[in-house]
Amino acid sequence: MLVSAKSMLEKAKAGKYAVGQFNINNLEWTKSILLTAQELNSPVILGVSEGAGKYMCGYKTVVGMVKGMIEELGITVPVALHLDHGSYEGAMKCIEAGFSSVMFDGSHYPIDENVAKTTELVRICNEKGLSLEAEVGAIGGEEDGVIGNGECADPNECKMIADLGVTMLAAGIGNIHGKYPANWPGLSFETLAAVSEKVGDMPLVLHGGTGIPADMIKKAISLGVSKINVNTECQLAFAAATREYVEAGKDLQGKGFDPRKLLAPGCEAIKATVKEKMELFGSVGKA
Ligand code: 13P
Repeated sequence: MLVSAKSMLEKAKAGKYAVGQFNINNLEWTKSILLTAQELNSPVILGVSEGAGKYMCGYKTVVGMVKGMIEELGITVPVALHLDHGSYEGAMKCIEAGFSSVMFDGSHYPIDENVAKTTELVRICNEKGLSLEAEVGAIGGEEDGVIGNGECADPNECKMIADLGVTMLAAGIGNIHGKYPANWPGLSFETLAAVSEKVGDMPLVLHGGTGIPADMIKKAISLGVSKINVNTECQLAFAAATREYVEAGKDLQGKGFDPRKLLAPGCEAIKATVKEKMELFGSVGKA
């Protein structure tokens, strides 16, 4: 069964650990992440960007696949199916399709418009029992063709959005999607501490989890981060393992071209990445 992310994140915030959001791209991704969460007895959030939703043939297809897998694989840990960086229209579509959680990313709107649209979604999500993530201060890097610099959120604006009744809040603290450049100055813990102080018990979300050093992740969790998003790192691990398989000529041996064999090393690499992150985030055994 799919669950809202509310309860798992409240527990994480109180217990000083974080739940990983791992973005999915296809069946192999979803299966690898679900099996790892089950093996480690960890709650998990499956993230779907609007682009990935389109790639997987729409949100209804995604809901069908995830629900089917939960049942067929006997997954009993809490799983939230979450729209990542949704537009207002995208969020509405996911709510209708059966997602258990959505993010409305209004960070590129003037704050008043972000407030107005977030308010409307709070009402709808509350009515339907979904969790809602809002964002203040754009996360840098490239995602679905949108490029931004790692902004730092205004703590007062964070409080304004948190007070609308969202479930969790993504605040920009200099984090970036994708690989971090060599000259990246690191996370702004000053901003994070100020936001945390303003929003109290509200679980905070750290986007751009790929490539953030372990000590910074731990410090961010200690300052109120309860959800950490990871996408690129699974993609890099999958691509490297697949490349190794092909470069070793294994697709040319016997039935090595069978997609079940060709994609297997990539799936194992995703599992290893998810395991490493769950251990680092402290969510192992917290289902
Ligand atoms: P990365 O791709 O940098 O891991 O970021 C993922 C993310 O924040 C999805 O919203």
